[in-house]
Amino acid sequence: MSILDKLIVMGGNRLVGEVRVSGAKNATLPIMAACLLTQGEVTLKQVPNIRDVAMMERILVHLGAIVSRSGTTMTVRGEQVEPKEVSEGLMRQLRASNLAVGPLLSRFRKIRVAYPGGCAIGSRPMDLHLKGLRAMGAKVTEKYGYVDLEAPNLKGAEIHLDFPSVGATENLMMAAVLAEGSTVIRNAAREPEIVDLQNCLNAMGARIKGAGLDTIKIEGVSKLGSAEHTIIPDRIECGTHMVAAAITGGDVHITNVIAEHVEPVIAKLKEMGATVLVYNDSSIRVKADSRLKAADCRTLPYPGFPTDMQPQIMSLMTVAEGTSVVAESIFDNRFKHVDELRRMGASIKVEGRIAIVKGLTRLSGAFVEATDLRAGAALILAGLVAEDATIIESIDHVDRGYDSLESKYAALGARIIRVNGNA
Ligand code: EPZ
Repeated sequence: MSILDKLIVMGGNRLVGEVRVSGAKNATLPIMAACLLTQGEVTLKQVPNIRDVAMMERILVHLGAIVSRSGTTMTVRGEQVEPKEVSEGLMRQLRASNLAVGPLLSRFRKIRVAYPGGCAIGSRPMDLHLKGLRAMGAKVTEKYGYVDLEAPNLKGAEIHLDFPSVGATENLMMAAVLAEGSTVIRNAAREPEIVDLQNCLNAMGARIKGAGLDTIKIEGVSKLGSAEHTIIPDRIECGTHMVAAAITGGDVHITNVIAEHVEPVIAKLKEMGATVLVYNDSSIRVKADSRLKAADCRTLPYPGFPTDMQPQIMSLMTVAEGTSVVAESIFDNRFKHVDELRRMGASIKVEGRIAIVKGLTRLSGAFVEATDLRAGAALILAGLVAEDATIIESIDHVDRGYDSLESKYAALGARIIRVNGNA
């Protein structure tokens, strides 16, 4: 994989067959950060082979952790971790690196981190993270793009999040597990990845309850130990495959899923006219025999429709019958895929955080660029139905969050190949 790689997609084939979902990126990243809290050994199963995980691994190793991998199993040993400064370079490449703040502060009492980077999907401050850490007694100084944090010992606190931020909820949970006394996080994010983090931390000896609800309680303990944990399946990868089946008029059986985690996507695809069959909550079959109908969509915190599926469902809307309205409530700049879809002939008007999508019968192949992870996935989906060839550049964005997406779709009948950027 190189940052110059591109994908060539020839549209027109139906996707048919079976595809297995990998482990969840957005559960793996906070759980890898949680390994910094213990001197024990944590074994993680069903870890996806994606660039963001490789980036987080580099950060853990930079901090002194010993990380080993065998297939989709990762082992992290934290006894030699020390509070080295996480360089701006590393932090800017991975937004999720800000999840190291809570664990490192909790274990070492004094750290310096650079403001994190991440996808180009809008401003991604850390104010809610820092406000919560201040409430737990941390002294926080922000200057020159760095944040210095100091806390002789973190104390449990009552924290109310102004917004149910996923990262802030996770960071504060991790800061609280070794704090003195108990912490309550109110208006907490309810994403399934937070439940997975709670389950892994509790396996390490933490005492957390309430993840998945809007109030989470954490009783501080003196230390954490070793654990083994299997990462939950990736609900956004699952949703992406569901749209791939629907947009190509295919018939795809998606395995290794937790259907409840993709319920909003199931509901939306059914509303648009797809057939979605759920088999004992662990696999889903998606079929579409005719052109789907337009539908409106507003992204919301879980269990609302996930913002990470907004670009993908918009691709489906560009070829649905009728006009769809998309409202992006979570991020302030998550429509960068619109310009690229327009290059393929899509009819989309954007007014602030609202996009109006007029469904057409066909898209045409074009040269397009993946501007971020989910925008890249949306362009692949559009390419699967566009006339002729779609050449997608900067596919390294897609490699951040999907494990060999083009191989999975080629196995289902798509005409899709990766061209090495040096070619
Ligand atoms: C997580 O990002 C996910 N990333 C994102 O997935 C996902 O889109 C997002 O949650 C929302 O579900 C990981 O889990 C690694 P937030 P995170 O804090 O934690 C604002 C993907 O494609 N905010 O819930 O960064 C923020 O600007 C990625 O897999 C503050 O204002 O999301 C944004 O508008 C993209 N202050 C909104 O909240 C803060 O202190 C949601 O952010 C924190 C966030």
